[in-house]
Amino acid sequence: MTAPNYARLRRFLSDMTSLVGGAKQDQDEAVLIEVGGKLVADLVAHDDWLPEEMAAGVADGYRQHLLYCDPQERFSLVSFVWGPGALTPVHDHTVWGLIGMLRGSEVDQRYQRDPATGQLCPGPTMTMVAGDVAALSPTLGDIHQVRNAFTDRTSISVHVYGGNIGSLARHRFDLANNREHAFVSGYSNAALPNIWDRSRESAAGRSGR
Ligand SMILES: [Fe+2]
Repeated sequence: MTAPNYARLRRFLSDMTSLVGGAKQDQDEAVLIEVGGKLVADLVAHDDWLPEEMAAGVADGYRQHLLYCDPQERFSLVSFVWGPGALTPVHDHTVWGLIGMLRGSEVDQRYQRDPATGQLCPGPTMTMVAGDVAALSPTLGDIHQVRNAFTDRTSISVHVYGGNIGSLARHRFDLANNREHAFVSGYSNAALPNIWDRSRESAAGRSGR
């Protein structure tokens, strides 16, 4: 079994750390999304770095695994494993986010508030395939519902958010009853991947930051 290419993941995390350190998050959100989006595109262009335990298929629903959280909680990286037919509630994020499709396909249904009534209405729908990247933010619109495009196989996307996403106070929306509910998602995993043991990578001839 081939070890995950953690050098690639470390490079991504190093570049993201530089990006959030150099940008004033409030003023430079457009820069974060543009440059961060290119970093995410590079990351999901290669499917050789996600450890198996963060990609294991699930029979139902979906799992959100924390891969890394910046020590100052300026960003976090998660893998989303979508079981066959998995569907989220309509929800928001309260921070910027970048979604990169690593395996399979997902359907991202956006929602927008009608300025006259305040009601949430369906916006654009995007079908993402491996290699695609999408952005969201409270400025651009960060309310959506996501489902696995497949009903017979697992899909996996990796997401970067502008905060410790599993710990943020967010909202689910019950459109039928026009209600919103506060929630904190947490994470599915108890342990993070050890990306810092370079000894086996050296043996395999890999190097990197
Ligand atoms: Fe989401």
